Amino acid sequence: MTQSFREIYERAQREPDAFWLEQAQAVDWFDEPSRAFDRDLGIYGRWFPDGVCNTCYNTVDRHVEAGHGERTAIIYDSPITGRKQHISYAELLTDVKALAAAMLDLGIEKGDRVVIYMPMVPETAVAMLACARIGAIHSVVFGGFAAAELAKRMDDAEPKLVLSASCGIEPNRTVAYKPLLDRAFELAEKPPQAAIVLQRAELRCDLVEGRDHDWAELRDRLRAQIEDGREVPCARLSATDPLYILYTSGTTGKPKGVVRDNGGHLVALNWTMGAIYGIDPGDVCFTASDVGWIVGHSYIVYAPLIRGATTILFEGKPVGTPDAGTFWRIISEHGAKTLFTAPTAIRAVRKEDPDGEFLKRYDMSKFEALYLAGERADPETIRWAETLLDRPVIDHWWQTETSWTIAGNPRGIEFLPVKHGSPSVAMPGYDLAILGPDGERVAPGAMGTIAIKLPLAPGNLVTLWRADERFRDGYLAEFPGYYSTADAGYLDEDGYLFVMGRTDDVINVAGHRLSTGQMEEVVARHPSVVECAVVGMHDEMKGQLPCGFVVLKSDAPEDHQTLEREIVAMVRDQIGPVAAFKQIVVVDKLPKTRSGKVLRRTMKAIVDHEPFETPATIEDAGAIGNIERAVASLSASSRR
Ligand code: COA
Ligand code: AMP
Repeated sequence: MTQSFREIYERAQREPDAFWLEQAQAVDWFDEPSRAFDRDLGIYGRWFPDGVCNTCYNTVDRHVEAGHGERTAIIYDSPITGRKQHISYAELLTDVKALAAAMLDLGIEKGDRVVIYMPMVPETAVAMLACARIGAIHSVVFGGFAAAELAKRMDDAEPKLVLSASCGIEPNRTVAYKPLLDRAFELAEKPPQAAIVLQRAELRCDLVEGRDHDWAELRDRLRAQIEDGREVPCARLSATDPLYILYTSGTTGKPKGVVRDNGGHLVALNWTMGAIYGIDPGDVCFTASDVGWIVGHSYIVYAPLIRGATTILFEGKPVGTPDAGTFWRIISEHGAKTLFTAPTAIRAVRKEDPDGEFLKRYDMSKFEALYLAGERADPETIRWAETLLDRPVIDHWWQTETSWTIAGNPRGIEFLPVKHGSPSVAMPGYDLAILGPDGERVAPGAMGTIAIKLPLAPGNLVTLWRADERFRDGYLAEFPGYYSTADAGYLDEDGYLFVMGRTDDVINVAGHRLSTGQMEEVVARHPSVVECAVVGMHDEMKGQLPCGFVVLKSDAPEDHQTLEREIVAMVRDQIGPVAAFKQIVVVDKLPKTRSGKVLRRTMKAIVDHEPFETPATIEDAGAIGNIERAVASLSASSRR
């Protein structure tokens, strides 16, 4: 008899070791783990501590060895360049081996870090898998980040090598990556020793003699060696060895290097493909995100390939490449069963094509469900998509830190009733708790911080890169025995979670996680700025947009428009275009408590035209009126 989701969840909570050891059987090990979890290792314990495995072996080799070499692993569909390519598992294996061999020849060893700063091309996935093969720890940096951000990540991860490309392509411009890469080499205190650069036809670049290597040239040379019998074996890695570091935004300008292990990640991601997404080996799944984010790491690259499915790597945008029917065209042309994207992408499609005219042109018969994550899925967008697609639209909630769903709808096991506005229920491995300020669980319906009772699930972060204390302080210290997600929300009587927003200074712009603290650090560097605060302002399309409030020095130039342009340019130059920082309001003073804390929450309520109470601890109540007037004039000018 098939088990209900509730039975599976309860068993996983009651007997976690047995449950996860069973799931571990579905992947291949050099040495199978004899135990699931050891709470005496690491910060909160470690998963599969005596297992020996290789993630690349599980994503590529084992499918070829099982006779599926001809199956398509990656479909590269790039409406922005007009290119399409089908890459079989066998071809992927050769490419991965060639790049892995090239890295070995450059002296890269197990445990070395490799930064990947690439656009959405198949070589990016190959780069990640080649690192996994030899046990190098990759750190992918999203292409929309500027040179200074790339340099910061280099200084933290201390990579020996960087893999990059000559350019990325955005609808409105070709983004020359090489000058950004070269600048990052200059800015970094400990730059890598070498770079491998993919020359793209759209914009070629100069290579630095003695440092930069041409990707295609290395690939051709190493492929020939592999055809001549050179072996490039998968490294035997402990399940607890790091697979990658992925930097994500925190409260400060210093990004947090989330460390992922090999074994727990492998087991958990494989489980999710069937249980959550209903994807079997050979099925086609389409995740429209970027490999630079966690959704891309987990559901463009690792999980589909671990599962032996076909993943679509899409280089384009939901609208404008060429139109709002792009997603539907891809689903229909490649027979995708699922689409996973951010709600903002669906809002963009809806805005361009509210009646779904494009959809009518395509055969969607293989399509089963739409999955949304990365930001709050507003009920209206969900309803629109449900009606249009006539398929389940599944909101699920998770974070870079977890690598897979914390709360979702396990459609592959049992499709639970949907409650709009809720990503549904906790997945196996997660004991979700809503905690009050005293650290006690609150009653159903009451708001609090969403926390996960330790231990975390397999595949969740094990620490922050070389920053155990920061991990403890940032996630574990506030509520002893729990991991704080920094999201606030509530659980209803049926155990459905409702996520209402962050409790820290992180904002979510078009599904991209950004730090307002980081933007403040840049704005404050402008010579005319005395102090500033950046808050997330509600935006119909992108969910949130950053809005900067600045107090200027008394001798600042009168021409505020020029100042504003300069500040916007600084943020774009130092953080990157992805910050989408375009709105600045000049004020006389910022509202603060008597102890000097800027009242960002109150300011956010004012920009969003929401009710708020003036805190009793306010230093100068006049500052609130000041913000209200500035926001009113802002609204008036944007109406004009
Ligand atoms: N390299 C260089 N620049 C990039 C970039 C990249 N990889 N990705 C985005 N940018 C730039 C954009 O060109 C844009 O620059 P502009 O200010 O010159 O126009 C800026 O960063 C903001 O980009 P974006 O947030 O993508 O906004 P947009 O207006 O170009 O597109 C959407 C809006 C909704 C279509 C787009 O945000 C989208 O597809 N979102 C889905 C989000 C997603 O996949 N999230 C991942 C988690 S699931
Ligand atoms: P990231 O680490 O970039 O995936 O961002 C994680 C954060 O995005 C979470 O902590 C939430 O604040 C937000 N988020 C992600 N998915 C959802 C969702 N389904 N509903 C509400 N918020 C979400």
